[in-house]
Amino acid sequence: MREEVDKELLNRINSYIEELFVAPDDALQSALEESKRAGLPEIYVTPVQGKLLQILAGLSGARRILEIGTLGGYSTIWLARALPSGGELISLELEELNASVARKNVDRAGLSGQVEIRVGDAKETLAQMSQNGVEPFDLIFIDADKESYPDYLQWSLRLSRPGSLILADNVIRGGTTLDPVDEASLAIKYFNQLVAGDKRLSAVVLPIIRRRIDGLAIIRVLE
Ligand code: SAH
Ligand code: DHB
Ligand code: MG
Repeated sequence: MREEVDKELLNRINSYIEELFVAPDDALQSALEESKRAGLPEIYVTPVQGKLLQILAGLSGARRILEIGTLGGYSTIWLARALPSGGELISLELEELNASVARKNVDRAGLSGQVEIRVGDAKETLAQMSQNGVEPFDLIFIDADKESYPDYLQWSLRLSRPGSLILADNVIRGGTTLDPVDEASLAIKYFNQLVAGDKRLSAVVLPIIRRRIDGLAIIRVLE
């Protein structure tokens, strides 16, 4: 793909927004440092995106949040901080190592009473939750393996209610979604088509500035 964007300007704009609107925070900073120390990949949401997730969660009044893809718990902390007292966040993670790093990070942020991290393939955990008839979630954040996004959308529809908010990270991926180059970009392109074509949903994708331009899908469940 041709590189036409002025990356330096985009990075300056993103830093400008981050410095102006994202206050330095010890727990979030430590979560990034400890994740790095444990060797986790640096693929968490950006600080600006974390702030956006927190605002959207607060705005939606979410009491029950489901996250698919925990990594070191960075986005988990952003989202859980928007919960009212008595609210809860369940986060699904495949790797035991990631989950243990995340639990420590969440604990350091003082959120362990509201956050539960469940280890396993999210598709299995989601099927179990659905089978057990869990209470619907007010907000679902999809951010695990990209190949499974179409599946995660179907599970999210089963585990939500009218008015719920579904958010999905990485739906643009530097533009590879427009011209798929692999299984992951094909799945994301299909995911976006499913979302756009579903009459039960009202959705848009917001571009996100990071290493490459990415996107956050913002999806409201109508019925
Ligand atoms: N939400 C995190 C980043 C998540 S990265 C943040 O922004 O801070 C994606 C995570 O999904 C990784 O930790 C990876 O181990 C996990 N993952 C990948 N496949 C998965 C699966 N099938 N089930 C559950 N988690 C999975
Ligand atoms: C990457 C970024 C992500 O936000 C993610 O969830 C997975 C991978 C990446 O940049 O490779
Ligand atoms: Mg992501």
